[in-house]
Amino acid sequence: MVQNEAFQDMLRALAEVYEAEADPAGPHTAKTLMVTPSPVAFDAAVPCIFDRAIRALLADSVHPAARAVLLAQEILPWGGNPVEENTEPGIAAMISVLTLMGPEGPIPAPDVRLGLVYMRPDSYYPLHIHDADETYVIIAGQALWTAGDDTRLRGAGDMIHHPSLLPHAFRTGSEGFVAIWRWSGDINTHSYAFIEDDQTERLA
Ligand SMILES: [Fe+2]
Repeated sequence: MVQNEAFQDMLRALAEVYEAEADPAGPHTAKTLMVTPSPVAFDAAVPCIFDRAIRALLADSVHPAARAVLLAQEILPWGGNPVEENTEPGIAAMISVLTLMGPEGPIPAPDVRLGLVYMRPDSYYPLHIHDADETYVIIAGQALWTAGDDTRLRGAGDMIHHPSLLPHAFRTGSEGFVAIWRWSGDINTHSYAFIEDDQTERLA
């Protein structure tokens, strides 16, 4: 099926991004993604509320993974925030997450997680931490990105690594962003927690 070809092409494009990462967990994740058969027959997904915005952002990007994701978008089951129970509802509604690989699937992997995230424009996703090591790669749009003491504008092609428990936060401007993310190390989700953040009140 053409749809599944697009899906496999997308997985290859995502793997290529992490093959280039200096942290060995990046190439390990890429290899896991490539050698694990995807058991999922993806049907056309119900478009998420951000579908049009995601498509527009991806279409504007020259990143090869953005093009690959756009071609598979029709069958990608974008969802809510998987750590929603740790999150205030208003914060959870800023983003949509697509988990592609992890202990719970859809592509099974015991020791890594990988997926996509979209964050809507003009929003602030506050400082949070988790046990897992994490690497984001922005593939479309941009955000003012805080990783520990480092806050700067990040755009398509930028790779940002968050070691375990490093606080991180994202502020979007007029366009939002789409990124690939991966987790390695201790990939439990229960440690995901928001921490005190004096930037949050400025939104009110
Ligand atoms: Fe994170």
